[in-house]
Amino acid sequence: MKNILVTGGAGFIGSNYVNHILKERDDYFIVNLDKLTYAGNLANLSDLKNDTKHIFVKGDIGNRQLVTYLFEKYNIEYVINFAAESHVDRSILGSYEFYQTNVIGTNILLETARRFSVKKFLQISTDEVYGSLGSSGLFTESTPISPNSPYSSSKAGSDMMVQAFYHTYNMPVVITRCSNNYGPYQFPEKLIPLMIINALNNKQLPVYGDGMNVRDWIYVIDHNKAINLVFENGRAGEVYNIGASNEMPNIEIIKLILKKLDKPESLIKYVTDRLGHDRRYAIDSSKIQNELGWKPEFHFEEAINKTIDWYLANKDWWEKIISGEYQTYYDIQYGKAKVH
Ligand code: NAD
Ligand code: TYD
Repeated sequence: MKNILVTGGAGFIGSNYVNHILKERDDYFIVNLDKLTYAGNLANLSDLKNDTKHIFVKGDIGNRQLVTYLFEKYNIEYVINFAAESHVDRSILGSYEFYQTNVIGTNILLETARRFSVKKFLQISTDEVYGSLGSSGLFTESTPISPNSPYSSSKAGSDMMVQAFYHTYNMPVVITRCSNNYGPYQFPEKLIPLMIINALNNKQLPVYGDGMNVRDWIYVIDHNKAINLVFENGRAGEVYNIGASNEMPNIEIIKLILKKLDKPESLIKYVTDRLGHDRRYAIDSSKIQNELGWKPEFHFEEAINKTIDWYLANKDWWEKIISGEYQTYYDIQYGKAKVH
């Protein structure tokens, strides 16, 4: 058995990972530590209720005593750190939790992992640490770190700390940097689920700036398969970029969603741009492809349709979310003052 501490496993990518990997691997025992912030949701893990290879623990990665206790009790040998504050807009409204969890929390995990001599520490990071691209070029693993938002700067801080632990202690760490994900269980503050849900509710779709910012989209299952390859075979001290070579301007995705849902483009509302809005992200993933044999399996057209169908079939899941704290956030983020 591999005893693995997965953090943030009740969030979007982490829950997809845990649900997927426990079906694929008989020899994984997962302790899932998640604080259940607004983004964490036990409903994402409902299929695992009777799975004896999964234990859920509600708690903070920044709680040193709890983290130490879990390492001792479950004889933790591996860490996969998904836990983070993950939304750029929220980081612009206020950044304290971002540094607290993404930097200090990661430090507590790293220090504990070092004391217990883990066999591997996998840090789940983002292409946003590289900053923004102009109209050409791709992020490679040697692109200099140059984050622009409070969110991406906190992720860059944790990445550098993780690399320092490799350099200083020769700790077996590895980092993945992925592009924008989409798929089931994504919290509806992010572009794709927000637009799907607003369209279904015949609400305006708020497009920042000119709608021509470009993101490089990957289906969450492709990301998670890449994560597991890096987890099992990635070389210590290395960074692996993950992306599906699927760049699209935001407005194109929004129009595609409207078309699929048979909703009018008159729902589109251009609103004041995000502060410091990165123009373009695009990933060169040739390293993980050549070294570990990964390649994306889902085409965008197919996977965006699957994603839209999932939100159509799981109204209960998102209706509970949008009737709670989400509404307060939504009013602050998209309040009247922001609309032209
Ligand atoms: P998410 O916001 O959906 O989930 C984050 C999870 O972490 C939640 O379940 C939350 O409760 C938990 N969490 C937050 N603070 C915690 C703390 N202090 N202790 C324990 N748990 C805590 O985020 P996501 O989209 O699933 O992202 C997961 C990871 O992947 C993050 O590290 C993010 O930076 C990275 N990433 C995300 C994307 C993307 O497109 N969403 C792309 C690349 C990388
Ligand atoms: P988002 O899903 O927040 O991911 P990130 O900022 O981490 O890339 O946003 C994706 C893109 O969509 C980004 O260019 C901002 C844009 N966007 C909007 O135009 N309107 C919105 O309401 C949101 C949430 C995002």
